[in-house]
Amino acid sequence: MAKPQIRTAVFPVAGRGTRFLPATKASPKEMLPIVDKPLIQYAVEEALMAGARKLVFVTGASKRAIEDHFDTDADLEKLLEEQGKSELASLLRVLPKYASCIYIRQPAPLGLGHAVLCAQPVVGNEPFFVHLADDLIDAGVPCLKQMATAYAQKGGSVLGVEEVPPTDTDKYGIVETRGAPAKISRIHGIVEKPKPANAPSNLAVVGRYVLTPDIFAHLEKIGQGAGGEIQLTDGIARLMKKQAVYAYRFEGKRYDCGSKLGYLQAQVEYGMNHSTLGGPFRKYLMDLLGATQTAAVEPVPVARARRKK
Ligand code: UTP
Repeated sequence: MAKPQIRTAVFPVAGRGTRFLPATKASPKEMLPIVDKPLIQYAVEEALMAGARKLVFVTGASKRAIEDHFDTDADLEKLLEEQGKSELASLLRVLPKYASCIYIRQPAPLGLGHAVLCAQPVVGNEPFFVHLADDLIDAGVPCLKQMATAYAQKGGSVLGVEEVPPTDTDKYGIVETRGAPAKISRIHGIVEKPKPANAPSNLAVVGRYVLTPDIFAHLEKIGQGAGGEIQLTDGIARLMKKQAVYAYRFEGKRYDCGSKLGYLQAQVEYGMNHSTLGGPFRKYLMDLLGATQTAAVEPVPVARARRKK
């Protein structure tokens, strides 16, 4: 039987982003830009390309900017049009007309599982995407679209996974699969942030999921897990005892933009590949590299000089 098309994407954006303080004290981490677009816009574009039409944002304290970003700004549009800057005005229209946004408030950041459960009243009884905007994935075919295809083939929930260094298992949900590594594998176990010595593998769940609505009944029953939070991983561990859940090794490069280093890496690589800025930015990097190598100076002398002022 053909599987229903996935029309709803849930974006949990209620976390406090403590790894990115102080930037995230008063602004959402999901609004951090990569070159000129905020992370949440990359997330929404990916979900739209995968077929989503209903966009559900689970928001929390200090996240108002996300709502404003997807709202229309008629005054600014008019001003830009009057100034003859139609191209800039078009950049303000970030959503197609067929997409609708729904905002739900998570009363406190009780964990990702709790955030997903908050979306239940608007998701209803259909499969849905969950997209974590701080995991930015650069891929030829958008990652969620790859996963929608996997869901259509298999019919059960699908988790985006990738291999991580074995020493890093305590930063992720880690899955257990059996048999030879494959593009899609059934999951036989999942555990949140295991210490390397206890991890069933080094196959980590990253911020992309296709979930069947059956997940909600399980999320309702679980209590606090790792880190005192209500973990999506624990809900999935219960779900996989009732129905098949699959790990999907996506194609693409992931940047952990919730960490400062991952964010910088994404910024540099997206900058280098940008349609108009890429050329001058690459040249700048080459010159910088050349200067540091030939003159044997410390990496960023300009910043140092500025600080001394
Ligand atoms: P993270 O743990 O990566 O994000 O949660 P965080 O809590 O915002 O950041 P740190 O760890 O303190 O730096 C993964 C995703 O789940 C969302 C976050 O917004 C992020 O997109 N989340 C997490 C919620 O929506 N609610 C929560 O209670 C927890």
